[in-house]
Amino acid sequence: MSDVTTDRGAGGAEDAPAIDVRGLRKAFGELEVLRGIDFSVGRGEVVCVIGPSGSGKSTLLRCVNLLEEPSAGRVTVAGTEVTDPDVDIDRVRRRIGMVFQSFNLFPHLTALENLTIAQRRVLRRGRPEAERIGRANLERVGLGDKATAYPAQLSGGQQQRVAIARALSMDPELMLFDEPTSALDPELVGDVLAVMRGLARDGMTMLVVTHEMSFAREVADRVVFMDGGVIVEQGTPEQVVGAPSHERTRTFLARVLDPAAAEVGEVADDGAAGRRVDR
Ligand SMILES: Nc1ncnc2c1ncn2[C@@H]1O[C@H](COP(=O)(O)OP(=O)(O)OP(=O)(O)O)[C@@H](O)[C@H]1O
Ligand SMILES: [Mg+2]
Repeated sequence: MSDVTTDRGAGGAEDAPAIDVRGLRKAFGELEVLRGIDFSVGRGEVVCVIGPSGSGKSTLLRCVNLLEEPSAGRVTVAGTEVTDPDVDIDRVRRRIGMVFQSFNLFPHLTALENLTIAQRRVLRRGRPEAERIGRANLERVGLGDKATAYPAQLSGGQQQRVAIARALSMDPELMLFDEPTSALDPELVGDVLAVMRGLARDGMTMLVVTHEMSFAREVADRVVFMDGGVIVEQGTPEQVVGAPSHERTRTFLARVLDPAAAEVGEVADDGAAGRRVDR
């Protein structure tokens, strides 16, 4: 309440990056998961985060909207420091859309009801307005004809698109995606990526953890490669995916881009299996 800068568009916030992370550290007990992360996402920018399992990608995303509390460092979202102890975090979270691997739809509510419930409870929109916005967003993700369907009547890819539409219905200033397609059957991945591509084209600010290298190459303005809780390198997709300058990045990409090798590589640490797929 005392922090006037949490207001949308309040002094200077317009010029601030969408996300700014400085010296971010996170430990779970003895385990240091993030060990000094510095990066920022500009407004309208699409940044993809890639890296091996356990490298801290989800933790990084969760620190941005304080689902995890950082151990040290500063996180600023659109000019509001979320790590400020006095911040109104609910207010900041309202500006951030989050899409996870699991869709977390309410099974007893229709697609449209899943889209209107938070609008009505959090944004206090009346039913007609919430339904109008909900329907428009179902259209936007290609599911205009599924308003009355229940989650169990939808494919995984459709459910994930409902989850994206739900996030969009809250008018987010930026969207965080944590492996939104990794729980889907391969034939359903394309529709979800197409929706995300459309959002990027419309100028949405997006921070996306993904293993979809073709998506990262095509859509990302910047790719961040993480390993062991640090950013190993970041740059354009051409730089990081096309011509990585670090051995760890090359090893990771070889595993991801060659599924046969990945079967061996993913379960092992950076040891023998990693070298085996080196070119
Ligand atoms: N709540 C928690 N308590 C304890 N350890 C945790 C917790 N959350 C994450 N970790 C640990 O932190 C490390 C990083 O996890 P994180 O989920 O950020 O990795 P990731 O890069 O997203 O991996 P994946 O690609 O498998 O999703 C892992 O070793 C994980 O076990
Ligand atoms: Mg993860």
